[in-house]
Amino acid sequence: MYWIFTGRLSVEHIEVAIADLPTSLNGTKIVLMSDFHYDGLRLSEELLAQAIAQSNQAEADLIVLTGDYITSDPTPIHQLALRLKHLQSRLGVYAVLGNHDIYYRQSKSEVTKALSSVDIRVLWNEIAYPFGSQFPLVGLAEFWSREFNPIPVMQSLDRSIPRLVLSHNPTTAKILKQWRVDLQLSGHTHGGQVALPLVAPLMKLAKYQSVIRKKIPPQVREWLPYMKRDCNRLVRNWRWMQGLHQIGENQLYVNRGLGTYAPGRIFCPPEVTIITLTQQKNAEMGESLYPLANM
Ligand SMILES: [Fe+2]
Repeated sequence: MYWIFTGRLSVEHIEVAIADLPTSLNGTKIVLMSDFHYDGLRLSEELLAQAIAQSNQAEADLIVLTGDYITSDPTPIHQLALRLKHLQSRLGVYAVLGNHDIYYRQSKSEVTKALSSVDIRVLWNEIAYPFGSQFPLVGLAEFWSREFNPIPVMQSLDRSIPRLVLSHNPTTAKILKQWRVDLQLSGHTHGGQVALPLVAPLMKLAKYQSVIRKKIPPQVREWLPYMKRDCNRLVRNWRWMQGLHQIGENQLYVNRGLGTYAPGRIFCPPEVTIITLTQQKNAEMGESLYPLANM
């Protein structure tokens, strides 16, 4: 999509404190990208090239991708994989899949194969250890797939060990509250796409959209922006549309994504996130926020 409808690429720098982060990992830099929707329509080659260049410029320790590489037809993933092959990071590139990556029966395997062919490791209810055994990386299956099941992976981790979780849909943060999640990285929402300043981001009005939508005949809804789908079903917690959130003891960061749906973005530019992890200081207690015992 032409930049005038999306806004220029925005590189967000955030610092996230992690309890019990090993000293050797203090200052670890992670680049996060999401929601490419590489289908010839929703993401321009220019924006993609800029995002890859910015990611490489950050000299990240790790690059993570949180899904929606394509929109429906999986064919463009092969072209996208050739672009993503140029991503550079010290410890590699890890990814999870989004709802659009499992749209057709064959999509999941085609997307996974294409990304794997350029050394991007796709995690589907799996744990990887790019940072070593003291800071695991969990990648969950897509929330809307039948295989979304965080129980085995989350329960297999010792609660005294900090961990990073990749999950396309931020709604999962509510389910993951029962486990320790030092930092969850998500996408899916595209930041709401329309975020007018001084007015609550419009997508927060999802509950009204749902009511209004029911009153519009289905054949008319198809042609109206934001009426095709029930926004309440799309994302359960629109307050987690973008940015960093504290959810109980857990932390969630939602990236606004790179691809854009019609009618475009307003004050909600496409995003590359550069995250620096720091050791959380608990000076008063000198202790971890997380008790050693498993829940
Ligand atoms: Fe998306």
